[in-house]
Amino acid sequence: MSGRIGVLISGSGTNLQSLIDALEGHPMGSIAVVISNRADAYGLERARRAGIPAVVVNHRARSREQFDDELVSILRAHEVEWVALAGFMRIITKRLLSAFPGRVINIHPSLLPAFPGLNAQQQAYDAQVEQTGATVHFVDAGMDTGPIIAQGVVPRLEDDTVDTLQQRILRMEHRLFPLVVRLAVEGRLRLGERGDVLVELEAGESLRLED
Ligand code: GRF
Repeated sequence: MSGRIGVLISGSGTNLQSLIDALEGHPMGSIAVVISNRADAYGLERARRAGIPAVVVNHRARSREQFDDELVSILRAHEVEWVALAGFMRIITKRLLSAFPGRVINIHPSLLPAFPGLNAQQQAYDAQVEQTGATVHFVDAGMDTGPIIAQGVVPRLEDDTVDTLQQRILRMEHRLFPLVVRLAVEGRLRLGERGDVLVELEAGESLRLED
């Protein structure tokens, strides 16, 4: 199987759940392991309920490099081909990136390069933007700076609060991430040598989603 995925989480795991649901019964892809840096992440429960191995690696007890080395050994032990960061709140180092070159992807709740970092939804709301959304990108050594794979656009409505906007962005995340992960496990997504993103789309498929 070309598409064994490791999913890294830190919290509720709603993006993880969307990947679990999307890969249910998929002939070429499956989630081989879920790793959380927090023992209280509800996403661990979601993994267990789906029968997926769930592991906690406490980042506090280790240096960044030791933490990544531990992640790499667990991911390798589960013969993972792709690594998906789903609400993972740690910056990963070159150790993990060099172990899975061109195979680490992340979802971020804004239209990068706008609003990188934490509280992206609040940043967009405060900036009174016409539209925001979600981005799936290849991870590089920066923060939310790697080559963009796909984006989903979410308008900011007149009567939006930051919560209603955040919820709509989250629903878009739950559409966008599975779309990209399916491409990955089907061997239809690749990061080129020059940082270009190569995707094989079939007729009617699109990488730009609208709310
Ligand atoms: C999501 O908005 C995700 O983009 C951000 O954390 C939020 C919660 O993610 N990184 P999840 O429910 O843990 O998947």
